[in-house]
Amino acid sequence: MSRTPLRIVVGITGGIAAYKAVSVVREFVKDGHHVDVIATEAALQFVGRPTLEALSRNPVHVGLYDDVAQVRHVALGQQADVIVVAPATANTLAQFAAGLAPDLLGNTVLARRGPLVVAPAMHTEMWENTATQANISILRSRGVVVVGPGVGQLTGSDSGPGRMCEPEDIVREAYEAVSGEAHHDLLGKRILITGGGTREPLDPVRYIGNRSSGKQAVALAERATNRGAEVTLVAAHLEVEAPAGVSLVTVSTAAEMHAKVMSMSADFDVVIMAAAVSDYRMDSVSGSKLKKADNGGELHLTLVENPDILKELVSSKSTQQIIVGFAAETATETELIRIGQEKLARKGCDLLVLNQVDWEQGFGTESNTVTVLAAGGDILDTATGSKMSVADTILDCIATSPFHNA
Ligand code: C5P
Repeated sequence: MSRTPLRIVVGITGGIAAYKAVSVVREFVKDGHHVDVIATEAALQFVGRPTLEALSRNPVHVGLYDDVAQVRHVALGQQADVIVVAPATANTLAQFAAGLAPDLLGNTVLARRGPLVVAPAMHTEMWENTATQANISILRSRGVVVVGPGVGQLTGSDSGPGRMCEPEDIVREAYEAVSGEAHHDLLGKRILITGGGTREPLDPVRYIGNRSSGKQAVALAERATNRGAEVTLVAAHLEVEAPAGVSLVTVSTAAEMHAKVMSMSADFDVVIMAAAVSDYRMDSVSGSKLKKADNGGELHLTLVENPDILKELVSSKSTQQIIVGFAAETATETELIRIGQEKLARKGCDLLVLNQVDWEQGFGTESNTVTVLAAGGDILDTATGSKMSVADTILDCIATSPFHNA
């Protein structure tokens, strides 16, 4: 990365994700920056001082009363271009929200002049606790950049929201926080995002659905919010939490999503149809549980087509609106672009985000690979990486569209 060398403080607090902070330090040093690591005593239970000193190429700072002559508890914060705290435990976030400074990291954060980026990591219950959520709201309202947490495997056998974001995402957010470049490029834009997978009932207990987790839509909602947009997420059966600061509308069927999206879309500058919407529904839903038929082992269902929300949005859109479609295809790589171009022409949207899906990739995973096609079919951009970084590429394409300057 070619940029002026920065002075970066990496604060590491006591959580198992501290081992991933080692990669954050390494990335910054590789990019040519000066890194001061401040580890809490608890952090050193999880990661060794020699590792951090070798990678940061600097002594690791721990004690408030070490090297007092240098007034380090103030100097590190004053001099830092950015402070990145990864992992940030629930306790650390509470301290920052309350303005407490019981240790060197707390003092440094209070004495800072530059931006503060925190990457929370904790168990789901701790993250969802109202105290933690209130602290996060306070920190956000003060301009602190909150990266994640992601959803996935936690320590032990449980999984859910609370997993520290990937080092690449944290590093990118730190650079953006310093330059301020991407953070507010969507300021004032109203963005409607659909996500998850609709379910079409067969009877009171069964449905036809799909494997969409909604993770890509949630990542889009989070990044768009961080970049200044006002975001509404129309969600069908998300497997993950909607990000803070997003207005959430929940739906179940394609018909419900159709009704909500069509009634709201006129108020939005951008509509991103990331949801996996069922193309068909039952012609009539049985009022009672369907019984196993005595007809030679076959069950015949009559399905009727659902309205194509994306197509309708395009036909009713205003000139300044940007409508973004998604196409998840099981095609081979060579067929993918052609299929995407055909779909783009058929749907008439302004951008189409194309990705390959199969049993292992695309749905439910933490990462994604996409190609963004512009109206007309040209490849605008491609991205592979975490769903957050893919979300940024998609939002970059939107932010550089003509609407942005309208
Ligand atoms: O035609 P296909 O389902 O592959 O198109 C996918 C795109 O169309 C996605 O953006 C999806 O959200 C949208 N879609 C829709 N209404 C439907 C089916 C899909 O808006 N009934």
